[in-house]
Amino acid sequence: MEKDIQPSDGIIVIKNLTKKFGDNLVLDDVSVAFEKGKTTVVIGPSGCGKTVLIKHIIALLRPNDGQVYFNGKRIDDQPEKKLEKVRTRMGFLFQGGALFDSLTVYENIVFPIKQHHRVKNYERLDEIVETKLTMVGMNGFQDYYPAKLSGGQKKRIALARAISLNPEVILYDEPTTGLDPIRSDVINELILKLQRELGVTSIVVTHDMTSAYKISDRIIMLHNGRIIVDGNAEHIKKHPFPVVQQFIRGQISETDLKALRVSIDDIKISDID
Ligand SMILES: Nc1ncnc2c1ncn2[C@@H]1O[C@H](COP(=O)(O)OP(=O)(O)OP(=O)(O)O)[C@@H](O)[C@H]1O
Ligand SMILES: [Mg+2]
Repeated sequence: MEKDIQPSDGIIVIKNLTKKFGDNLVLDDVSVAFEKGKTTVVIGPSGCGKTVLIKHIIALLRPNDGQVYFNGKRIDDQPEKKLEKVRTRMGFLFQGGALFDSLTVYENIVFPIKQHHRVKNYERLDEIVETKLTMVGMNGFQDYYPAKLSGGQKKRIALARAISLNPEVILYDEPTTGLDPIRSDVINELILKLQRELGVTSIVVTHDMTSAYKISDRIIMLHNGRIIVDGNAEHIKKHPFPVVQQFIRGQISETDLKALRVSIDDIKISDID
């Protein structure tokens, strides 16, 4: 179902990407173009390669085959030094948040700025931090250490850090995992707000279908190394593939259920022995 894609088809274009780790073929000739200013949600079972896919977008992983383009320029074959510049134009929120625990909220947010720019004007830095924290509803928390923050607050700070360099693209890896429904919705609203107010392109990996339906312009589903579905929320909801319906409804497949029954029966037998 993947058509021939050109480097100019989107702000980020992945063309015929294949990634293996030893014998483990994770991505099998995947092609996808991400349109500027849109939010694309990537779904798929655990271990199907969602994180691997987005790590290729910031070239933290390199393909075995295929290419990755950012604004029409190939990046997957660039040396690390050149990639640093590319990465300043993308913000990423890693799976798990990953704030620096030994740094305050303020220091966490200025970290990428100091890393990429020679800072002369510290007042300007205070102002940037204030703006970013205000965007995520956390202004006033500058001097807190991450240990004093809740999971949802940490995600918001991580998001403030991800936008510290005014990225054109934001990559989110499971931004709502581990949050209660209200806190998840705060993150959903923030993702929508960043898209509307800053016009950023977002790529969001999630298992959370409520979030996926709410924030997406488009949803793609990865399965067995390939994109098996690509469309809007309505398209996904009505999709005829059982594997898609089972995934979006959180239902176990008949095959897995049988396997589970067999293993439960095994336990009972060994218990009697
Ligand atoms: N650095 C690595 N070295 C070896 N194998 C890896 C590496 N990174 C990922 N993999 C393998 O690639 C596959 C896909 O991993 P990935 O982390 O992309 O899954 P995922 O879809 O993000 O899953 P989850 O929903 O659980 O986060 C897995 O089989 C994983 O073991
Ligand atoms: Mg992952």
